[in-house]
Amino acid sequence: MRFRDKIILVVGGNSGIGLASAQAFAAEGAQVRLTGRDQTTIDTAVEGIAGARGYRADMADLDAMEAVIADMEAQDGRIDTLFVNAGVGGFAPFRDVTPEDWDHVHGVNLRGCVFAIQKALRLMGRGGSIVATGSIGGHAFVPGNTAYAAAKGGLYAALKVIAGELVSEGIRLNLVSPGPIETPLLHRNPGMSAADVDVMREAMIAAVPMKRMGRADEVARAVLFLASDDASFITAANLFVDGGTLELG
Ligand SMILES: NC(=O)c1ccc[n+]([C@@H]2O[C@H](COP(=O)([O-])OP(=O)(O)OC[C@H]3O[C@@H](n4cnc5c(N)ncnc54)[C@H](OP(=O)(O)O)[C@@H]3O)[C@@H](O)[C@H]2O)c1
Repeated sequence: MRFRDKIILVVGGNSGIGLASAQAFAAEGAQVRLTGRDQTTIDTAVEGIAGARGYRADMADLDAMEAVIADMEAQDGRIDTLFVNAGVGGFAPFRDVTPEDWDHVHGVNLRGCVFAIQKALRLMGRGGSIVATGSIGGHAFVPGNTAYAAAKGGLYAALKVIAGELVSEGIRLNLVSPGPIETPLLHRNPGMSAADVDVMREAMIAAVPMKRMGRADEVARAVLFLASDDASFITAANLFVDGGTLELG
């Protein structure tokens, strides 16, 4: 019960890693608030988590995120832990990457993430913790990953600075960087058939020393560790949850 009565906001908490984390936070006593874009899965997630509240808000839309924080300010008065997890993917060979693709990925994964943190900070105080979701894709060569790699790599760079600035305020900020995890994200690549996804999954597994996909709950455990007082002397860390892919690759 490391999060008993803590107010926790999971941005992108209605699917995959975010949903598994929201459920795990609640199982340890947290009052969970979660966001997403899809109302149906937001409603399902909230119904399954006692005391939870959901918000439909596009993280790329800074006004929408501002409305979430303003509502939490009015209803909860504080945020103890923030997990900024929302992210989008999309593969394209470099010659085919369009400015629109680039802006879409960066608007969520980098700009949206950084400003979600900035907005939430006004409700956070000493002892607060922030975790964001990076990716091994921000540190490794994955074909077709230019925009995503730049956004997640940029997030790592930005968070180091933000974490450093927050030390004096007593707020810790860490990054969890998953390898290939079995979540709905795999099926969100436009133009990819189920057979294409199977080929991609096999290629990913081949690159993982543990020779399997990770599970969302395995990432959630790392998120909860970094968010909790168990990690009280850890800030600006980047924890890879990838079956050894990056460190042994
Ligand atoms: N799965 C992997 O192999 C893997 C590997 C490395 C890193 N990651 C990162 O892990 C994070 C979670 O991904 P996942 O694998 O759990 O995928 P997922 O199941 O597709 O979940 C993505 C989550 O982000 C939310 N989201 C996406 N764009 C959003 C936006 N503009 N505004 C608000 N919410 C938004 C989604 O909400 P809706 O469903 O409502 O759109 C959903 O809750 C992402 O940052 C991803 O880049 C995943």
